[in-house]
Amino acid sequence: MKTSPETSFPHRHLLGIEGLSPLDITMVLDAADGYVDQSRRVDKTSDLMKGLTVINLFFENSTRTRTSFEAAAKRLGADVINMTVASSSIKKGETLIDTAMTLNAMHPDVLVVRHGNSGAVQLLSDKVDGAVINAGDGRHEHPTQALLDALAIRRRVGRLSGLTVAICGDIAHSRVARSNIQLLQIMGARVRLIAPPTLLPPKAERFGVEVFTDMRGGLHDVDIVMMLRLQLERMQGSFVPSVREYFRYFGLDREKLSYAKPDALVMHPGPMNRGVEIDSELADDIDRSLIRDQVEMGVAVRMACLDILTRPLREGVAA
Ligand code: NCD
Repeated sequence: MKTSPETSFPHRHLLGIEGLSPLDITMVLDAADGYVDQSRRVDKTSDLMKGLTVINLFFENSTRTRTSFEAAAKRLGADVINMTVASSSIKKGETLIDTAMTLNAMHPDVLVVRHGNSGAVQLLSDKVDGAVINAGDGRHEHPTQALLDALAIRRRVGRLSGLTVAICGDIAHSRVARSNIQLLQIMGARVRLIAPPTLLPPKAERFGVEVFTDMRGGLHDVDIVMMLRLQLERMQGSFVPSVREYFRYFGLDREKLSYAKPDALVMHPGPMNRGVEIDSELADDIDRSLIRDQVEMGVAVRMACLDILTRPLREGVAA
């Protein structure tokens, strides 16, 4: 089978949202729509990736991302190997490359990698033969999170273009924010950042966003409110006076949500600290919260990414 321009993805790896076109993003989201249906069937598996090997290589803790990549690969019929490496035992640089070379010798077709250092996944992708998917590198990018967020929004609202999305909280340490800012802008949405000054990246306006340091002003008239976790593990020292204060000024509750559009939707990538970033009852309100959808969309988007990145391989075999 020949690859036609509409079905070909012009990237060997998925290292970030940066560099993707609206067409690339739409291709992933459209494929993922089909995988939502497949995942809702009683028999969820197909043999699309039969014979192919996916290695999940996680140098950082993860629950939902790792399990959803595992579920995604299994639903496509791939063989999956999970490797979790305690970050404390890793000496950056050489050890990372050594690990990559060892794994490469096992001929994985896809390597899904999470690493605590920004840029580590890119470095690894230069050394291996298979496709690499970035499952989060430091505070740099987390492309499948932004794609699954986009899918959750697109399925509930019907579009991304023209929406105003507020990303709130610990933006300085967040790869989720960085990937989402880019994806939303590529797809024609407007992005606002809301955070205390200590949790904003330096010169945040350079991202082409509007920046607010108060929830009332920032949430005014927005369609989507995306909350972020306080990334305590990436903070040296304390960036907020106290958790109670933080919730009071920046935690999302119904009162603050009332500044947004009447039907505005709430998101959180998880894991969430209930009562710190978001009011617990609001997080569980299925009319206003997309948090449960985000988890479901995570598997479908990862199936789409695995499918799309292995197409050249599968089509090459079939030719
Ligand atoms: C995010 C991550 O790891 O970057 N979580 C996730 O992938 N579900 C966000 C976070 O850890 O707060």
